[in-house]
Amino acid sequence: MKMLIINGPNLNMLGVREPDKYGNETYEDLLKRIEKHCREKDIETEFYQSNHEGDLVDRIQQAYFDKTDGIVINPGAYTHTSIAILDALKSVSIPAAEVHISNVKEREDFRQVSYIRAACCFTVMGHGTDGYMEAIDYLADKIGENI
Ligand code: DQA
Repeated sequence: MKMLIINGPNLNMLGVREPDKYGNETYEDLLKRIEKHCREKDIETEFYQSNHEGDLVDRIQQAYFDKTDGIVINPGAYTHTSIAILDALKSVSIPAAEVHISNVKEREDFRQVSYIRAACCFTVMGHGTDGYMEAIDYLADKIGENI
């Protein structure tokens, strides 16, 4: 099973960026933790991070040609603005899960909309970086059920 973990703008700054909201774990350490988690479950992982909306769209499209089984995505601020990322996820019809490290529900009004949610079968928020593992486990179970 091949899982793509996509992170949007500013998530490469984890560990530095607003630690009160996003914690102290660095982006590199998070990737190592996800990789270990997935190795134990025999899930192949690919990681992608970009600060650019179009690059995220390109990578989602690429997942279709790579025969990726599932996409875990934290689109960062593009969550609240990007119809292009929503359309990309819908275009490839790969099971997708939305992750937010912080609890966006309890934050500013402009964070209350998620465009991408309509293309995701699972959303986790406010569980810190553990949310990535939850999303991976959910998708892995769901994908496994269809085999
Ligand atoms: C975030 C929440 C977004 O509102 C914010 O713009 C981010 C990170 C989160 O993981 O909590 O960049 O997606």
